Amino acid sequence: MDHLINTEQLDRKTVESLFTLADSLEGVRNNSLSGKILATLFYEPSTRTRFSFESAMARLGGAVISTENAKEFSSAAKGETLEDTIRVMNSYADALVLRHPEAGAAERAARVSSIPVINAGDGAGHHPTQALLDVYTIQKSLGKVDGITVALVGDLKNGRAARSLVALLTQFSSISFTLVSPPELKMGSDITDLLTKRGVVFTETDDLSRGTRDADVVYMTRVQKERFPDVDSYERLKGKYVLNRSSADALKETAIIMHPLPRVDELLPEVDASPKAMYFKQASYGVSVRMALLTHLLS
Ligand code: CP
Repeated sequence: MDHLINTEQLDRKTVESLFTLADSLEGVRNNSLSGKILATLFYEPSTRTRFSFESAMARLGGAVISTENAKEFSSAAKGETLEDTIRVMNSYADALVLRHPEAGAAERAARVSSIPVINAGDGAGHHPTQALLDVYTIQKSLGKVDGITVALVGDLKNGRAARSLVALLTQFSSISFTLVSPPELKMGSDITDLLTKRGVVFTETDDLSRGTRDADVVYMTRVQKERFPDVDSYERLKGKYVLNRSSADALKETAIIMHPLPRVDELLPEVDASPKAMYFKQASYGVSVRMALLTHLLS
């Protein structure tokens, strides 16, 4: 693997070896990447992805150069193309983590880059490292991934985390999916076609309680305001699903609730105290999973 652009590049063997490495790196601080430089180039806001990559690199003894707002604080503001920026960054860093508002941007970057490009989210396209840490969370919380039922809820059309998670889970056996969304925000046909092609069972519904009642994993997502052409259509859809404490209690006893975060109003803070709430633990696993990926790509 030279670059990580989408989950299609990850087979089960690679995923499992990254997870074994992540287990061994939990809580570790060493100098295994001393002398290496990671550039984090973010054209869109981020809390978890950028900071966890930077924390991962620091824990491995490497250095980070960064812009948190490349739209304004890189020469993109003066009209520089993404390709030119990436060509130049190749002389300054050993690997590059890119977040960009346009689907396909990471692939464009990889085409002109001789250092590894890691896609940290490209518009409504892919978010492969989020998918890795999500599957890792499932493995750690349920003790298995094969054979589970996963309900994904919310904006499945624009949510790159949900899209990448579904695609990555097709590497595992006997997973079934319930895709819960309003008709306007249904999962894209590129992902549902992939499920059909791989013989994966899925159902689609707009009913939250029916869609989640048998799930082992309930994966909530926010309605992606930044992908809507106008505020009115966002406002109309944003309150459609709300998971509160009583709906969390009604899930299967052993179910876990996940969310890539940030949350807005689809997952109430009153759920945080539920033993099913796994989303902050999920965010914390981002560090060791990204340490494993950086080790894999750079050492
Ligand atoms: N889950 C995720 O991508 O979060 P950030 O946008 O904060 O990086």
